[in-house]
Amino acid sequence: MSAIQHTQHLRSLSISAARVKQNIWDLDALLPLSYCLSPQYIELAPRGIHSNFCHLLSRDVYSEGDSQPLYDYIMTRSDQMSPAFLAMLDLWLEDELKHYEALRRTYHCIAGVDFAEMDRQFAARVHEIKPIEMVLVDEFTMLVTMMFDEIGSVYSYRRDLWEYYRHFGTAIQKIGHHLVKDEGMHFSNAAELLLTFQVMF
Ligand SMILES: [Fe+2]
Ligand SMILES: [Fe+2]
Repeated sequence: MSAIQHTQHLRSLSISAARVKQNIWDLDALLPLSYCLSPQYIELAPRGIHSNFCHLLSRDVYSEGDSQPLYDYIMTRSDQMSPAFLAMLDLWLEDELKHYEALRRTYHCIAGVDFAEMDRQFAARVHEIKPIEMVLVDEFTMLVTMMFDEIGSVYSYRRDLWEYYRHFGTAIQKIGHHLVKDEGMHFSNAAELLLTFQVMF
């Protein structure tokens, strides 16, 4: 076995030992499409919180949806990625699309924006990969980038949970909790896979 083959063999052993995890939760059970927010929450929310939350959601909804074009771009080079990375990425996409749907429902009941309008807004978005191409060059770089991005999401969703989500009832608050937990797992999964590269340092 050559030195390179030996290194690859060690990495595949480490990959099989990597602990990739997923937070399992049921969006339909927590926030069904028919969910109606009691107007009391909006009336009783501290001054400015409702309008700021609407503004925040108007951005967050679509950035969660952006995960699909990013995934599609990465998959054009899937032949260069390890099976463990691709498996982790599938779980990641599943979660991010659930976040997209969870935030669509949240935005709908908090701000009254209808789903067709959200579809129009999202379809009009331009997904520019060029500015981030340099952080998508290979699996190692993507994992490092992912760690930074996901820990940033943990931090901001945790702050938003305290500042906004918790004022609008148990279901919305739980959505906020799951967002924090899922993003934390994305960070930890990227870190786990990155550790398997240590054999190549
Ligand atoms: Fe997310
Ligand atoms: Fe994430």
